[in-house]
Amino acid sequence: MVIVPGPASHELGLKVAELLGAKIMPIEYKSFPDGESYIRFTGDVKGAHVVIIQTISPPQDTHLVQALLMADAAKDLGAKKIILVAPYFAYTRQDRRFLEGEAVSLQTVVRLLIATGVKGLITINSHSPNLLEKTGIKVRNLSAIGLLAEYFKAQGLSGAISLAPGKRAAVMAVEAERILKGGCDFLKTRRDLVTGKAVVEVGKLGVKDRDAIIFDDIISTGGTMAEAVRIVKELGARRVYAACVHPLLIGGAGEKILKNGAEKIVGTDTVPSPIGAISVAPLIADALRRRL
Ligand code: R5P
Repeated sequence: MVIVPGPASHELGLKVAELLGAKIMPIEYKSFPDGESYIRFTGDVKGAHVVIIQTISPPQDTHLVQALLMADAAKDLGAKKIILVAPYFAYTRQDRRFLEGEAVSLQTVVRLLIATGVKGLITINSHSPNLLEKTGIKVRNLSAIGLLAEYFKAQGLSGAISLAPGKRAAVMAVEAERILKGGCDFLKTRRDLVTGKAVVEVGKLGVKDRDAIIFDDIISTGGTMAEAVRIVKELGARRVYAACVHPLLIGGAGEKILKNGAEKIVGTDTVPSPIGAISVAPLIADALRRRL
């Protein structure tokens, strides 16, 4: 197995390779003055099982093109099998046509991966795992929620209630609860299809005088998490923590969440961020050990 740490996941790629004791294939990359991406393999991948580690986080169009260039080059250079590890896999939110005439981005991106020779995709807490699996590519969707819950347990937060913003995210609260053992629930959320603004509705949550941890897959603008924190605090929770797998933290997302009363925001290193305290490298290494 040859690990190719992509420009977007260089450090993570090195960590995974180290855990596996696998060979690393460094690539040269640069951006031309007009913004176009350039990729060059610095060694031979003929006949190799190539694992490209490249998160598709913002700037996602650049990171996606880099992933496609790496995969296509590996194919041309004679790689036997190409696996893409995209810890954060963008474009999964537009997984269907919500408004007439829209492009279904998830479908387009997967078609491009298939065309460039990618045979398997390993991702983490994908926003649309079921739909991704129906696209014709072999997908392994890992979960980093257990790592987040273990982190909070180690911080002495066993027994905190695990919450999720939205019914769709409830599985994450259930997963965390298995470790934190403080019960779980979810808040009702919906998103305005035109403005994109998150609306969180108050339900009955047993959070009074308790510590609560809100788990979500993504913190993007922070609107959803900030609203959820505000409501949980209003319902009388003692300390409220925000946890996410993919801390995209667009604009002042972190500040917004802290301002609404969160004690701390914790994320993983699926995307580079100042709050990525938890590494998903062991999760990826383990999946690769089993797969190849
Ligand atoms: C939504 O379905 C996702 O699980 C996240 O809640 C959402 O992507 C967060 O976005 P934002 O931080 O912009 O509210």
